[in-house]
Amino acid sequence: MKTLNVAIIGTKFMGKAHSNAWANAPRFFEMGIRPVLKVAVGTDQAGAQQLADTWGWEEASTDWRTVVARPDIDIVDISTPTYLHCEMAVAAAEAGKHVFLEKPFALSVEQAERMLAAVEKSGVVHYVNHNYRRAPAVRLAKRLIDDGFIGRLFHWRSAYLQDWIVDPDFPLTWHLRQETAGYGAHADLGSHSVDLARYLVGDITAVTGLMANFITERPLPGAGAATFSAGSGEATGTGKVTVDDASFFVAEFANGALGSFELSRFAPGRKNYNTFEIYGSEGSIVFNLERMNELQVFSRNDPAYAQGFRTILATEAGQHDYIANWWPPGHMIGYEHEFHHAVVDFMHAIETGEAIQPNFYDGLAEMQVLGAAAESARSGQKKSL
Ligand SMILES: NC(=O)c1ccc[n+]([C@@H]2O[C@H](COP(=O)([O-])OP(=O)(O)OC[C@H]3O[C@@H](n4cnc5c(N)ncnc54)[C@H](O)[C@@H]3O)[C@@H](O)[C@H]2O)c1
Repeated sequence: MKTLNVAIIGTKFMGKAHSNAWANAPRFFEMGIRPVLKVAVGTDQAGAQQLADTWGWEEASTDWRTVVARPDIDIVDISTPTYLHCEMAVAAAEAGKHVFLEKPFALSVEQAERMLAAVEKSGVVHYVNHNYRRAPAVRLAKRLIDDGFIGRLFHWRSAYLQDWIVDPDFPLTWHLRQETAGYGAHADLGSHSVDLARYLVGDITAVTGLMANFITERPLPGAGAATFSAGSGEATGTGKVTVDDASFFVAEFANGALGSFELSRFAPGRKNYNTFEIYGSEGSIVFNLERMNELQVFSRNDPAYAQGFRTILATEAGQHDYIANWWPPGHMIGYEHEFHHAVVDFMHAIETGEAIQPNFYDGLAEMQVLGAAAESARSGQKKSL
């Protein structure tokens, strides 16, 4: 069987989720090309070696530039903080490597344009990892919408809420600085919500936003975290938070639907509350990632006496492209399986030359929506795209 060599950059949360997918996708799916786990790259050799030992990467390195340039590397998986996405993706594309990139796509629209130009020029396959598109219930929602089950779309209503930085003593990691994260919840969570909205409802044409920063100063992180100039509080061991803690915005879609987005990492009790509701002329769809195999559906076309939201367990073949490769119906799949589906589709794109979605075009569109909503929050004006 044909094989292609993968290098992964980033060894922590996403490094692990992606390694699992690269290693195990071929065990569950027929794949025309098999990925070979070649090199794991991190900031420290011990961390990279540990990822390599655990997941079967053949080598470990701390020098991503050398690895990306190696002729035996075909695919570069970028699972690093946002501020490295542009430089790494452009370098990988220029070296002729297919790029599998984590979200948020970039720090800015300007970076996103450069990244798209680089992959267009080199002709490599490009993918931005909005894994939730590949959850079974989300695929079922897409199918119901495409089949006209809920009719003309009126409303998108989403909330993506977490609580991991509510504690004011949570340190000033890379996620909390503009130069390393771009935005706070706005892009970290909002990039996923915008991607789901674009996938399920369509293009966004105008936005009006509000943003808040609740904790403005935090303790500097310990050794090993992202390094940056910590601003005025550095001398006292604290630094300024320079991204939003919460962002709410409303949107107009090209098809006339209206949408709302709530994004916060200050919602106690909400761990990974990625939810959306879609209302249409014939019915409604509700999704909550924390119950990710289920989709709630309402149909106005049910007999009046039987109307009400019903819960569909999206684990049947025919509801979802990939589910039959896992377990029998009702046996549930999880967060990690979305990454396997992305790997399968990515390798298929390389094999066939068909684009995978979401890709760098979607990444640019995501950054344009996020950039416009941030600009609206700053100016107090509605912003058209
Ligand atoms: N799709 C999802 O569900 C999801 C979930 C969490 C995070 N993410 C995204 O994944 C990316 C990584 O997030 P994370 O939580 O794994 O971050 P993290 O901070 O836990 O880990 C970052 C990794 O990048 C490595 N790294 C940093 N600088 C490097 C360099 N110069 N050379 C080589 N390696 C370097 C570090 O060694 C570390 O292993 C971010 O863009 C984040 O937004 C996506």
